Amino acid sequence: MSQSRTRPDTVNPEAVNLWSNADHATDYLARRSSFPWRDTAYEHLMEWVPAASRRVLDLGCGDGLVAGRVFDARPGVEVVACDFSAAMLRRARERFAAAPQVAVVEHDLDEPLPADWGRFDAVVSAFAIHHVVDERKRMLYGEVLERLEPGGVFCNLEHVASPTRELHEAFLDAVGTTPEDDDPSNKLAPAEAQLGWLRDLGFEQVDCHYKWREIALLSGTKPQ
Ligand SMILES: C[S@@+](CC[C@H](N)C(=O)[O-])C[C@H]1O[C@@H](n2cnc3c(N)ncnc32)[C@H](O)[C@@H]1O
Repeated sequence: MSQSRTRPDTVNPEAVNLWSNADHATDYLARRSSFPWRDTAYEHLMEWVPAASRRVLDLGCGDGLVAGRVFDARPGVEVVACDFSAAMLRRARERFAAAPQVAVVEHDLDEPLPADWGRFDAVVSAFAIHHVVDERKRMLYGEVLERLEPGGVFCNLEHVASPTRELHEAFLDAVGTTPEDDDPSNKLAPAEAQLGWLRDLGFEQVDCHYKWREIALLSGTKPQ
């Protein structure tokens, strides 16, 4: 699978993204299970992956946790799982070493989704797209729409912006962190704005199916 190397003009070269750093990835994986809401959120995401999915794309797959859930729950499914972190890709490849139906590929979400990946019945993503700037998020959502089969579903479990600083700080407190320790890679956009982008791009059945503070499941369906 090849990928275009043309970086969109919209990507701010100043934008911070620490996720290509192996320590950042390792630290996240060490803390991931300590967030009690996380399993519930993943279960909500899985509810929206069509039962008859034949091909599913996972954007920002990390070590392949969500791709693994899809693979286990949808017999016969073929999964393409992408990320740009070498440390994450290595772990994902280890996870799927015995599963040739799962392709783990290097891809930077700041780059266009390669057309030669083909079409998907579902595109899933968990806690990844908020690491690209808003203009790129919107552009990426358009590329997701193109890559979906008619009737296909986009399920984006995301870290979204709080409407106020107080609510943002309350979220950080609830997940055991502080504004000083907040990840500078985060570029949070409000759930409502992102739902609006999905509708404007032509997605149907757009909704936020689950929300806990700054954690939201945003979804839309490609028209038949
Ligand atoms: C919080 S982790 C989530 C990983 C996984 N989806 C999960 O639920 O555990 C964020 C993931 O997004 C990936 N990521 C961040 N920016 C990216 C980019 N520009 N292109 C591709 N992957 C990116 C990181 O490498 C990391 O694996």
